Amino acid sequence: MSPKVIPPDRDPVGRADRPLTIIVDGARVPGVRGQTLASVLLADGRSHWRTAPTGGSRGVFCGIGICFDCVATVNGVPDIRLCRRPARDGDTVTTQTRLPHSPDADRGVQ
Ligand code: FES
Repeated sequence: MSPKVIPPDRDPVGRADRPLTIIVDGARVPGVRGQTLASVLLADGRSHWRTAPTGGSRGVFCGIGICFDCVATVNGVPDIRLCRRPARDGDTVTTQTRLPHSPDADRGVQ
């Protein structure tokens, strides 16, 4: 199964998806209504969007809201699980880092 979004004009089953656009670290990323924010990012080719305290890259691990590996800041609210959050047109996603002395680590965000 491919995480890529098939453009509606090339979809053989004739979906009537409603497109949306989110902003990820300042970049416009297309999606469709019904996707989670994590699925929009995966379809855009992004496999990770958070840095753990050890420096490791984190993205979707469980995909069902349990592990919290997929958290990011959404519309200014930190630690939102992107695998559980439906994408809405105009959402702004900011990636997070837990590296020592990063702004997120300094304010005690896990
Ligand atoms: S991937 Fe595990 S909580 Fe989102």
